[in-house]
Amino acid sequence: MNIPNAISVDQVGVSFRSRDGQTNTVLEGVDFAVRHGEFVSIVGQSGSGKTTLLKTISGLQQPTAGQVLVKGRPISDGVEDISMVFQAPVLLPWRNNLDNVLLPLEFRGKRDTAAKRYAKQLLEMVGLAGKEKRYSYELSGGMQQRVAICRALVSNPELLLMDEPFGALDAMTRDSMNFEIQRIWQQAGCSVLFVTHSISEAIWLGDRVVVVGGKPGHIVADIPIELPRPRSKEHRYSAEFAEYVTEIESHIGVTAGIS
Ligand SMILES: Nc1ncnc2c1ncn2[C@@H]1O[C@H](COP(=O)(O)OP(=O)(O)O)[C@@H](O)[C@H]1O
Ligand SMILES: [Mg+2]
Repeated sequence: MNIPNAISVDQVGVSFRSRDGQTNTVLEGVDFAVRHGEFVSIVGQSGSGKTTLLKTISGLQQPTAGQVLVKGRPISDGVEDISMVFQAPVLLPWRNNLDNVLLPLEFRGKRDTAAKRYAKQLLEMVGLAGKEKRYSYELSGGMQQRVAICRALVSNPELLLMDEPFGALDAMTRDSMNFEIQRIWQQAGCSVLFVTHSISEAIWLGDRVVVVGGKPGHIVADIPIELPRPRSKEHRYSAEFAEYVTEIESHIGVTAGIS
């Protein structure tokens, strides 16, 4: 059977028009696919259009050229089973942590005992056991982001879009979140598109690292990462890993020269 790609981005362009009528083309000719079950990392300089790309894939932003298909269908068809983690946690301040995590299931009428148990498990997994009844103002920025990650995972999405989800976390928490996300992805078999500004995080997690760069933004490199799975801490210190870092740095550097 021919399984459609989890995501197909087909010659996508995005332009914004400013109030004085000028057109700012942020993305042009972006073309790539995420296969079913694949983990694809995206890196690129700040302002290269990574967030715009993720928003376009999730349907929050309309492409001005080309098209995006999710599981072979336009996103406007109402594709479910897709979760997004934004750069900022965006929690509802009047709901406690557990209720924030359960929100997507509540929308679908699936808030039951099993859902509650799973939400608690997720909070425990990200180091927030005992904080279920707390509110977001009682948490640090990093803790809030971990609640947002639990909210994205609670519906067992088939497709997970993450925009620099660990940017606000301290290095140690970030490391353990990297392990958890690898484990969850391997267990759930979902497809992940993961934006990060950390090259080593991109390599360690990804089956591929896609580099966005240039003006307007497009894909300047798409590098398969052939490190064995599951990956352990040791992989970060291998010669092979260092070669990937050098290669990706060179692609990001080249695009910086053009801008
Ligand atoms: N809604 C918008 N209206 C106008 N310009 C936008 C909008 N969203 C993003 N941009 C512009 O698109 C460019 C890329 O932004 P973004 O996708 O956030 O980059 P990145 O996530 O790689 O840092 C920036 O120059 C930004 O100003
Ligand atoms: Mg961004």
